[in-house]
Amino acid sequence: MMTEDVLILAIESSCDETAAAVVRNGREVLSNVISSQIALHTLYGGVVPEIASRKHIEKINQVIEEALSEAKVTLDDITAIAVTYGPGLVGALLVGVAEAKAISFARKLPLVGVHHIEGHISANYIENPELKPPFASLVVSGGHTHLVIVKDYGEYEIIGRTRDDAVGEAFDKVARAIGLGYPGGPKIDKAAKTGDIHAIEFPRASIDGSEYDFSFSGVKSAVLNYINSCAMKGIVVSESEQMVSDVAASFQAAAIEVLVDRAIKATKAYGMDSLAIAGGVASNSYLRSEMSKACEAEGIKLYYPAPVFCTDNAAMIGVAAYYEYIKGVRHGLDLNAVPNLKLGER
Ligand code: KG4
Ligand code: ZN
Repeated sequence: MMTEDVLILAIESSCDETAAAVVRNGREVLSNVISSQIALHTLYGGVVPEIASRKHIEKINQVIEEALSEAKVTLDDITAIAVTYGPGLVGALLVGVAEAKAISFARKLPLVGVHHIEGHISANYIENPELKPPFASLVVSGGHTHLVIVKDYGEYEIIGRTRDDAVGEAFDKVARAIGLGYPGGPKIDKAAKTGDIHAIEFPRASIDGSEYDFSFSGVKSAVLNYINSCAMKGIVVSESEQMVSDVAASFQAAAIEVLVDRAIKATKAYGMDSLAIAGGVASNSYLRSEMSKACEAEGIKLYYPAPVFCTDNAAMIGVAAYYEYIKGVRHGLDLNAVPNLKLGER
């Protein structure tokens, strides 16, 4: 192996996936191993933090070993260890952080702590070699809904955010209410394909005075009210496949239209010619198709990661870590999990 290669072993354990990856020179993913706990948490209708932490402890060594062997490397070839240290569930984050510190100490390898959202945005670099800052980014996940200007590698300006629920959270709650279960996003995406987006007019929220902020609690409540008003007439929405599809399609359209509208406005207002979408909800098929249409009409180049790089994974952490690493960012063995870490903080 050429000595100038920077090989990063990255670890991600901020929520319900235990993940490790090896990334070469920031853009080439040599391995990307994900052990998902979805089946386990489905029993409870959502992520149970205590169970997530315990499962991470059980899986993490095996996941790292697989990532190294799939990449056909050993720890001797690794240049640096990267790990998500926030935001996320504190107990879950701690498992990855402790593991990364242990390897860093034992192998005398530099340690780079990564912000989870920086990882999501950086997932766009993997399959798009031409994508370089500056660009606008819409980050949509189970915990975040942010409009960000990526000024340079590792330099972010947050220009809009949700005032209440994250959009993924709204998808998950609506899915539960119409009997689709957890995780809701992909299930609504699928059910919506056979539904009518005009079946029910759900509200498109705007925030007075802040044109790039979002609110999703209103549309979520409107869906719950609709279900209750049906129940009062003796109609159980979750028992009718067509009604479930119609609610899914109408809700999805309401949520996604707002995302597309704000993202396009921000990209233009900040003079950006590219927009990259990121996070679990970026794999939503309606978001992708509506955003593609809008970007084409406005002459904006649209980027989005493959679905496997949209939901939580460690490859995106390895990519983000590379750009931090070459800038000289290093963390000490006092690195701690920061559950509410802000983007751009070190
Ligand atoms: O990025 P992610 O894996 O974890 C967080 O950092 O939160 O995002 C998970 C979220 C969940 O809310 C899930 O329902 C949503 O992404 N999601 C989707 C789709 N796939 C995942 N939402 C809408 N449509 C999808 N196809
Ligand atoms: Zn995430």
